[in-house]
Amino acid sequence: MRTAIIEGDGIGKEVIPEAVAILDYFNETYDWGIEKVPVEVGFGKWERTGSAITDEDIAVLKSCNSILFGAITTVIDPSYKSVLLRIRKELDLYANIRPILPIPGIYKLLKIKDRKESDVNMIIVRENSEGLYSGIEEIGDEKSTTTRVITKKASVRIAAFASNLAAGAERKNSLTVVHKSNVLKSDKLFLDSCKQTAESKGVNVSDKLVDIFAYDMIMTPEKYDVVVTTNLFGDILSDLGAVLLGSIGLAPSANFGDNQAFFEPVHGSAPDIAGKGIANPMAAILSLKMMFEWMGKKREACLVNRAVSAAIHDKIVTPDLGGKYSTKEVGDFILSKVRQL
Ligand code: NAI
Ligand code: MG
Repeated sequence: MRTAIIEGDGIGKEVIPEAVAILDYFNETYDWGIEKVPVEVGFGKWERTGSAITDEDIAVLKSCNSILFGAITTVIDPSYKSVLLRIRKELDLYANIRPILPIPGIYKLLKIKDRKESDVNMIIVRENSEGLYSGIEEIGDEKSTTTRVITKKASVRIAAFASNLAAGAERKNSLTVVHKSNVLKSDKLFLDSCKQTAESKGVNVSDKLVDIFAYDMIMTPEKYDVVVTTNLFGDILSDLGAVLLGSIGLAPSANFGDNQAFFEPVHGSAPDIAGKGIANPMAAILSLKMMFEWMGKKREACLVNRAVSAAIHDKIVTPDLGGKYSTKEVGDFILSKVRQL
């Protein structure tokens, strides 16, 4: 198996090595035969070479089975195109999965008393290939437009993916379609496609308008199991969902296509703390955990989760969680726990 390693920019360069150290440990101890393929893309590369990602980079990524990705700085410059959007498009990574499952012990650490960890266990499934991120734009001084594309094909594809998740073990066989079809008529096609697909798979399906859903997911998260939505809504709701996790530094994600799987922390390159060695590496490590699950390595995924939970329990955490430890100290502690457990 070939796994591309993209550290990217800013804190991506600090958190990804902590996840890679855990990958190396399992790969070497159990002879998994994973070949790591470092790939440099992003703003740093753009500054140096004038190109943030090349056709050769894309070819290398296409030759890999999975990708572990840090974060990339995006600048508002017409000549700078989003690297992540290009990778998602070229590899057709159509399903963006963001589990909202708090690490055991995190609410106690953060003194969150108004909700229970056991009430929060949802997965946000974001359609990743179209919607308002279609890239079809006309930009002018007086008027600018972005075209929102919804197709039946992509809606059915993402609904099938989400329905299969909802029907899986440990889930409640419940799917909520989040949309705004009362105003955006394009969302009627999304809603109808999702409902029909879920019903054909025997999944209990309901729907919610996105604005009230944003309120509801924070107030009564226990009502939700698997949630499927369009690109922009999913982007925003999954960052909001990180509130239920306790910190953006704890939120992992995965992007799936038919041929590749791409794992990344939800957070960005965090220029405000980059270079200080204080970024929380847990989101990157939990993204690696999602890669282990995808590989069918359930035991190892569980070990990583328990090791992260042990760090929370022992308060070996970075400043975003009120601790005084560095990225490396937290990463080393989690690795040492993985070795012991
Ligand atoms: P951000 O996620 O980088 O940072 C938001 C806030 O959360 C900052 O105060 C940061 O210090 C904090 N934070 C984020 N991750 C953290 C961690 N692991 N540990 C502790 N604190 C953490 O989002 P922002 O500031 O909107 O974007 C910064 C840059 O990152 C921009 O150029 C943006 O385009 C890019 N970005 C890239 C993403 C990606 O590559 N997937 C995703 C989101 C943003
Ligand atoms: Mg986002």
